[in-house]
Amino acid sequence: MSSANADWNGKHVLVTGGAGFIGSHVADVLLARGARVTVFDDFSTGFREFIAPARENLRVVEGDLLDQARIGEAMRGVDFVFHLAANADIKDNLAQPRKCIDQNVVVTQNVLEAMRAAGAREIVFASTGSVYGETDLIPTPENAPFPVQTSLYATSKVAAEGLLTSYALGYGFRAWIFRFVSILGPRYTHGHVMDFWRKLRRDPSRLEVLGNGKQQKSYLNVSDCVAAILVAIDKAREPINIFNLGHGYWIEVDKSIGIITRTLGLSPRLEYGGGERGWVGDSPRILLDTSRIRALGWAPTKSIEESVVETLQFLATHPFSDRRS
Ligand SMILES: NC(=O)c1ccc[n+]([C@@H]2O[C@H](COP(=O)([O-])OP(=O)(O)OC[C@H]3O[C@@H](n4cnc5c(N)ncnc54)[C@H](O)[C@@H]3O)[C@@H](O)[C@H]2O)c1
Repeated sequence: MSSANADWNGKHVLVTGGAGFIGSHVADVLLARGARVTVFDDFSTGFREFIAPARENLRVVEGDLLDQARIGEAMRGVDFVFHLAANADIKDNLAQPRKCIDQNVVVTQNVLEAMRAAGAREIVFASTGSVYGETDLIPTPENAPFPVQTSLYATSKVAAEGLLTSYALGYGFRAWIFRFVSILGPRYTHGHVMDFWRKLRRDPSRLEVLGNGKQQKSYLNVSDCVAAILVAIDKAREPINIFNLGHGYWIEVDKSIGIITRTLGLSPRLEYGGGERGWVGDSPRILLDTSRIRALGWAPTKSIEESVVETLQFLATHPFSDRRS
């Protein structure tokens, strides 16, 4: 990893969604490696607290990626882009289909067009393991077919992946596409741990569980996620580089609940909604084959169990992160 330190030194990197959960960690690591970082964020689900304090090499541009002129201006002089801004909530996306396509597809083309105009040619994109839908291939490799999309969110990510690959081939871009499992850790603001934590704060005596609690999911700590992205950028240099990111095992939702209630010292009555899926678009089983990224020398350093506990510790000590609706 020592060569990576030199690579980022003095580079001007734009992080869309840099005030969000994962984007703010990316910004921190790049700043620590000597990059000049522009965070572009509309703070719709991001937090100013996540990018504090002000730092010499950190520029913050408040703007909406739907505003082509604004992202065009911010892109001037940029060498490298991490495109992490999105509407990242699967359930919310089903309720607002137009917003989903705007926030996840249209903005991606705006970012690519701004890069094309500014001469920036390297981009990281945060996709999702949900693109594989309810595949039978478990663990799921990157080349698994995914003919049927089970959520609009995943549909929008597949479309955005398509934009990146066409720009890579059509305009000489280099693209790194990462299909993540659900990410846990400090600055976590959405997902199953947040849902359970909120419900238990409201009523510690009972916990409503979407589905039957038997869903099996892999998770990854945000620090391991960012480390994997940087390893891939160092070592995978094709025009299009696609990587699954996740842990090598999964846990049942019931096990997550056990960790959460034990950590909080609670014994709620569990009330299951029933059915294999928690909601439309919920994949009951998610385990990605990560041999491709592991072959580059990366491996997760934190277990899923310790990441759940670390997430709860963050939520307990940073109640502002609950402001997100
Ligand atoms: N967190 C996960 O478990 C997970 C899993 C798979 C993929 N992803 C993907 O990773 C990326 C980051 O996710 P996250 O969990 O950090 O989400 P997040 O909601 O915390 O971060 C998204 C950021 O983008 C900003 N944003 C949204 N729309 C914008 C717009 N139009 N213009 C400018 N800024 C905008 C938000 O304010 C926020 O700061 C997303 O693309 C998400 O789809 C996340």
